[in-house]
Amino acid sequence: MNRHLLSAADLSRDDAVLVLDTAEELAHLADRPIKKLPTLRGRTVVNLFFEDSTRTRTSFEVAAKRLSADVINFSAKGSSVSKGESLKDTALTLEAMGADAVVVRHSASGAPHRLAHWIRGSVVNAGDGTHEHPTQALLDAFTMRQRLGRVEGLHVAVVGDVLHSRVARSNVLLLHTLGADVTLVAPPTLLPVGVETWPCNVSFDLDAVLPKSDVVMMLRVQRERMYGGFFPTTREYARRYGVDGRRMALLPDDAIVMHPGPMNRGVEIAAEVADSVRSTIVEQVANGVSVRMAVLYLLLGGALTDVNEGAV
Ligand code: NCD
Repeated sequence: MNRHLLSAADLSRDDAVLVLDTAEELAHLADRPIKKLPTLRGRTVVNLFFEDSTRTRTSFEVAAKRLSADVINFSAKGSSVSKGESLKDTALTLEAMGADAVVVRHSASGAPHRLAHWIRGSVVNAGDGTHEHPTQALLDAFTMRQRLGRVEGLHVAVVGDVLHSRVARSNVLLLHTLGADVTLVAPPTLLPVGVETWPCNVSFDLDAVLPKSDVVMMLRVQRERMYGGFFPTTREYARRYGVDGRRMALLPDDAIVMHPGPMNRGVEIAAEVADSVRSTIVEQVANGVSVRMAVLYLLLGGALTDVNEGAV
């Protein structure tokens, strides 16, 4: 593994499988009455969040705490960032306090890459602009493996606002590395320029893709990043690209429906789908903790054998 996790493309197939296997070992911890290992005792993990987050920030916090690390939660609101302090000065300040790992979320694509040049600790990208979100892709792959027994050879449809989605890009890269076959389904206005160079297929016809899909990953319509009209009306979007009960019935029997959250119920996903047995949305959240424990553990120097041998 590299020192940092900035992009899903940083992970070779072996790296990715190592993270998933380590996460599987660490997941057993959640069933124990005391959910804590001493592995990262004395290490400090800083959660540096410049953008709002519910799942990802708390997930990294729980993951670090279950490994006994000290956790500092930093959010831009209420910090010197609101006095104009730069990313670099903020990072150097936190490093001076002894951060071994910095988990960063930022609205600017590339911010974690910059950070990695300035500080000595490990940098984990927890979502940068519309660019990447590698731990989300890892927890999604983990969830597919858990539900369907494999990732290789799966047909995965990633549906919706691909243009603004760091989840989509990281998933396409990681799923390609792991041998899955990905099809992006979106209106032409919500596909990024250059998507034809991504290692995946593109379709505009959801009904045609669903019967061939083992996994349907719905993406949130990201209104906070939209500065123009990308589709006529929400109703029209939901009709063409949302998944409801009728569309869910087009899926093969064992297929699953995923969503990274937060959901716009009634827009990209109907409540009857989100709350159905096919939905893995709550499992994805639980798996996020195990996967982030594995990432922190491996970046900060652990090996899978330690986990297996109970040495952690
Ligand atoms: C995603 C994100 O922030 O990129 N959410 C998440 O991390 N669970 C997706 C989104 O915001 O739609």
